Amino acid sequence: MEKFIINGGKKLEGKVEIESAKNAVLPIMAGAILTDEEVIIRKCPKIADVFNMIKILESLGVKVLWQENNLLINACTINKAEISKNLTEALRSSIFMLGGLLSRFNKAKISFPGGCKIGKRPVDIHIEGLQKLGVSVEETEEDLICAVDKVKNEKVCLRFPSVGATINLIFASIFCNGSVELINVAREPEIVNLIDFLNSLGAKIYGGGSSKIVIKGVKKLHGGEFTPIFDRIEADTFVFATIMTGGKLEIYNSFYKNIYSLRNKFFNNTCKVGYKNGIICIKADCSFKGIKISTGPYPNFPTDLQSQLTTLCAVANGNSVIKETVFENRFLYVEELKKLGAKIKVNNNTAFVKGVKKLVGEEVNATDLRGGVSLILAGLVAEGQTNINNIYHIQRGYANIENKFSMLGANIKKEFIT
Ligand code: UD1
Repeated sequence: MEKFIINGGKKLEGKVEIESAKNAVLPIMAGAILTDEEVIIRKCPKIADVFNMIKILESLGVKVLWQENNLLINACTINKAEISKNLTEALRSSIFMLGGLLSRFNKAKISFPGGCKIGKRPVDIHIEGLQKLGVSVEETEEDLICAVDKVKNEKVCLRFPSVGATINLIFASIFCNGSVELINVAREPEIVNLIDFLNSLGAKIYGGGSSKIVIKGVKKLHGGEFTPIFDRIEADTFVFATIMTGGKLEIYNSFYKNIYSLRNKFFNNTCKVGYKNGIICIKADCSFKGIKISTGPYPNFPTDLQSQLTTLCAVANGNSVIKETVFENRFLYVEELKKLGAKIKVNNNTAFVKGVKKLVGEEVNATDLRGGVSLILAGLVAEGQTNINNIYHIQRGYANIENKFSMLGANIKKEFIT
């Protein structure tokens, strides 16, 4: 067990390099089983979710090897279409294996996925979509048992643009005998990146980034090398931290338009932003005034930034209203922020935040990945010492985060709890 110890009050200043996106890498890893040839994922982040996904791939007989920061996956030895609960409960993305296994084996047995505790996370949209494609689905208390002879040439309309369901339906359709149309699909940049990856292996998928995707079946995919897009949520987390501490930041390896706060001129009156040769410069100018906003599927405000924004609003110069529309229960971390002196009331799916002049350090517990990183942001501005327990939640999605913040001048260290 480890914890973070932060002594707040330092302005962040310097350069930060953003990792490849967790939400791009995990589906790409799952997609690598669609070919018998080697896939190389360049600049793969060393985060707990990636290590858990490797365990799943290895349990199926897939060969996985690190070569420095590149991950080599070869599914020529895959010999199993079954994933047990002890592996799926570690991460929600285990469900991304379903569509690929169906394409490889015409059958799959997979235990229901685990992941962050942010409300009910059913898989009914995945199931309805697969059934429309002709897949038989049996649900037991623990498992999903699926089988298909040949995927039907169908038009499938999702009732909500679920990221995971979009991924599974693409994987399941890749070798169809004709074409499959998916409507009201997720439009996240990570979905576009997954489609780019699959097309680079020989798939024929059209319309990525729009709400309709067409998959023309191909006989097989070949291997290849791919560099996933940078993590826009990590980039925005650093932007928020810079605004909160009144600092100055240069972000490397990022694309301006994918970063929500910059694309939407979110901090227009709060900081100066420059962009040159792939480097984004941000200089905080004055305090954030508060905001009224709702989360939603891309291109709306990302749910994965909701807790970081609420934390920024907790120390804003004004009041804010933040509505969570994607997940059922994504405000667990608010009780922890309140221990530091934040004034937040949660009513159903909406947080009403009254900005306070200061937070004061305390012992807090990370409740989930993004809620956990928000406690780091709070600790960076809190007076005195903040101890954060249960940091394994944060390590699921952020690589070396304490080192990155230290390099920017923050006083943060990781300690083992004995
Ligand atoms: C992915 C992201 C996660 C992000 C989320 C929404 C990855 C690895 N994770 O998660 O970081 O927060 O998208 O942008 O890419 N739902 C159903 N039935 C289903 C599927 C989903 O009701 O069959 C609901 C979920 O409970 C949730 C909402 O739809 O409330 C969004 O889920 P979904 O888009 O599927 O998210 P994930 O793929 O789990």
